[in-house]
Amino acid sequence: MQLRLGEPPLTQAECALVYCFAPSGENATFSLPAEIASLDEKVWSGLVAEAAQEQKFQGKPNSSLALRLPGPIRKLVLVGLGDPAALTLEALRRATANGLRQAHSLKAKQVVLSLPDTGLDQVRAVQAVAEASLLVAHQDNRFKSPPKPEEERGFSVEEVTLLVPGLAQARQDYENALQRATEMAAGTILARELVAAPANVVTPPALADTARQLAQDYGLEVEILGREECKALGMGAFLGVAQASDLPPQFIHLTYKPKEGDPVTKLALVGKGLTFDSGGLNIKTDSRSIAMMKTDMGGAAAVLGAARALAALKPRVEVHFIVAATENMISGRALHPGDILTASNGKTIEVNNTDAEGRLTLADALVFAEKLGVDAIVDLATLTGACVIALGEEIAGLFTPDEKLAQELQQAANLSGEKIWRLPLEESYFEGLSSTVADMKNTGPRSGGSITAALFLKQFVEKTPWAHLDIAGPVWAEKDSGYTNKGATGYGVRTLVEWVLAREMAAASS
Ligand code: BES
Ligand code: MN
Ligand code: ZN
Repeated sequence: MQLRLGEPPLTQAECALVYCFAPSGENATFSLPAEIASLDEKVWSGLVAEAAQEQKFQGKPNSSLALRLPGPIRKLVLVGLGDPAALTLEALRRATANGLRQAHSLKAKQVVLSLPDTGLDQVRAVQAVAEASLLVAHQDNRFKSPPKPEEERGFSVEEVTLLVPGLAQARQDYENALQRATEMAAGTILARELVAAPANVVTPPALADTARQLAQDYGLEVEILGREECKALGMGAFLGVAQASDLPPQFIHLTYKPKEGDPVTKLALVGKGLTFDSGGLNIKTDSRSIAMMKTDMGGAAAVLGAARALAALKPRVEVHFIVAATENMISGRALHPGDILTASNGKTIEVNNTDAEGRLTLADALVFAEKLGVDAIVDLATLTGACVIALGEEIAGLFTPDEKLAQELQQAANLSGEKIWRLPLEESYFEGLSSTVADMKNTGPRSGGSITAALFLKQFVEKTPWAHLDIAGPVWAEKDSGYTNKGATGYGVRTLVEWVLAREMAAASS
C-alpha cells in the first residue's frame, strides 16, 4: 500500500474516509463534520444526512456508514470516534481499520483520510492512522495457488492519502511519524508471516536464514551457533529440548549498533523460538492444541520483526536480538520425563514435563543475554496456556521484578495499543518447583502456571533489569478485529520498538 500525506480541504476523491465524533452532552444530536455537511448540502441534496439518520449513525466507536454517491466523491465512508474527550490512539487505529474495511467492500482503490483535530498528539495520531492502514491491508496468500480470473483476492485499497491540517508547519515531524509507522508495520508483517508459516517452512535453519537476510539487508552483525558451539557454551537446557529433532538447533544472535557515535544504552530482546512444539514425550494430546504449535516461535518472530524496524529507524541504541531456535519433537533420542539437564549458568533442572520446553530454551538464551553486559533484557514467549486462561487471547502477561521497566513497558504498550497486564512474580510460589534431585524442576502445580514459569526464567538472570512477556494469547487471532486480521498478529513488534525508542529518548536527555 502507498501512503502519503496531504493538506485539506477534502474536495475530490474516489473514496473519502471521514472521522465523526459522537455528540457530547445529554441532548446533543449528531451532526456531520463541517466539510461533509457543506458538500452534502451543495451537491448531495442532504442524502448523507438522511442516510446517517436512517442508519442511526451517530459517530459511536466501532460504527461506520458506507455510501455510494454521485461525484465529486463517489464513495464515502463515515467512521465513529465516539466521545472526543475519551479518544485514544488505539480507538483511532480501530476506526481507521474499520473504515478501510468498508472502503474495501466498496472496492475502492484510492482512499483519502481526513484527520480531524483529535485532541491527541497529532504526530502520534498520524503514526497510529498509518500503522492501522498498513496493518489492516496485509493479507497473506503465500501458500495459496494463484487466484482464478473471476476470483478477487487481496485488499482493494492500494493508495491512502492522509490529509493533515497544518501539515506544512510541521512537515518533517509528520514525515517521521509516517516512517516510524511504515517500519513498524513492516516489522509486524514480517512477524505475522513467520508465525503464520507452517513448521515445515519456518524451521530453525529457516529462522536463521531470516536473521542472516536481515543482517545483509540492514548491515547488522549476525552470529548463528549450531549444536556443537552451543555445547561448548554449556547450553544443556536448550540442547536437551533440541535433542530429538532431525533439524539442527540454531542459536541466533543479531546485533544492531548505531553507525555513528556511541550507543546511549545497550539492550537485549530475547524471543522463544520453538518452530514446533509437539510437547515431547509429554505429547500434546489435544489435536487442536498441537496443530497451533507452529505459533510457538511468536516471541522469536516479534524479536526479528523489531530487529527489522529498528535497523531501519536507526536509534542511537545498541540492541541484541537473541533466539534459541529449535523444535520440540519425539524420537528415540527424546528427553525422558525426569531427565536432569545443566544450563549454561551451572544450574541443574529436573525435566518433570517435556512440554514445559520454552523455559528450558529461554534459560540458556537469558544467560547468554546477560553475559553481553546489557542495561536491560526483555523476553517474549508463547510460554503458558495458563496465561491465556488468566488474561484471555488479547492480553499479554508482564512479569518483572523491576518497577521502572514495568512502567516503561506499560507506557510503550499504551502507545502501541498492544495490551499487557502485569502479573505478580510471587516468590513463595517458587517452592512449587523444588526438586528432590536437582536445583529445580521445570514445572510446578497447575495453579499459577504462568507465575511459576516466570519464576523459573528469573533463576537465569542474576542482576540485569529483566522483564518477561507471556504472549501465548495474543500471538494469534481467531477473527478479524480492528487492524488485526484473523491469524498471526505480529504481536509485540510495535511495543518493543516503542520501548527501545523511548529508552533512547530518555538516555539522550539525561
Ligand atoms: N507452547 C506452549 C504454551 C502455549 C499454549 C502457547 C497455548 C500457545 C498457546 C508451552 O510450551 C507449553 O506447552 N506449556 C505448558 C506448560 C505446562 C506443561 C506446565 C502448558 O501451558 O500447558
Ligand atoms: Mn510446550
Ligand atoms: Zn512451547
